[in-house]
Amino acid sequence: MSHANTAVIIPAAGSGERLGVGIPKALVEVSGQTLLERAVRNISAVAQLIVIAAPPGFEEQIKKFFTEPSVVVVTGGKLRSESVANALKVISPDYQFVLVHDAARAFAPTELAERVLSELIQGQRAVIPALEVIDTIKVVNAEGFVIDTPDRSALRAIQTPQGFAVDVLKQAHATGSDATDDAALVAQLGIPVKTIIGEPLARKITTLADLTWARELVGQS
Ligand code: CTP
Ligand code: MG
Repeated sequence: MSHANTAVIIPAAGSGERLGVGIPKALVEVSGQTLLERAVRNISAVAQLIVIAAPPGFEEQIKKFFTEPSVVVVTGGKLRSESVANALKVISPDYQFVLVHDAARAFAPTELAERVLSELIQGQRAVIPALEVIDTIKVVNAEGFVIDTPDRSALRAIQTPQGFAVDVLKQAHATGSDATDDAALVAQLGIPVKTIIGEPLARKITTLADLTWARELVGQS
């Protein structure tokens, strides 16, 4: 399934400190392909335009991965929100929908993006994949003492791709605020954010344990 009005933003500008392999995480290879290439390939079927926010200094290297004219590379920022905002600037208001998808979630299947997009086509303005949480989550203070134990059944772990009407995401980023995901900025506008069922394969590659998972997934350990 594809839609003639869909752009995808791939924030790929992070340094990957928690992974700690000395190169930007998006450029780490799993079985001969970088996480960034995998993320782009897995989502390209739903997009007419893909905008990658690259780590500063790696723009030219990344451009060489993608020869197709539908892939554009911009320079990312210090914060993830800045990287998304930089990419959003090159997306014309003629596009109707935009999906924001972490390079670090390189194994998210195309089908997940299709389900997000399908909700947008049906009229939702903000759609995010969500998984039920397994652990009990607690809120703690700066000293590490528990303040609260939210009801686990109401909690969700949120993934990407996150889908938005283009005008909604532009409005959300116009505030210049920062958040760890785009849906948080959209929610601040008072716009309803719909969750759909997420996908274990959309796991964010964050630590060496996640990288081991990825290498086992593709049969290379
Ligand atoms: N990202 C980005 N620009 C930033 C920070 C993050 O585009 N300034 C991107 C990352 O490249 C990644 C996604 O946002 O694809 C999710 O971020 P995260 O998993 O935290 O990646 P890093 O910031 O690279 O990792 P770390 O926090 O461990 O340094
Ligand atoms: Mg980070």
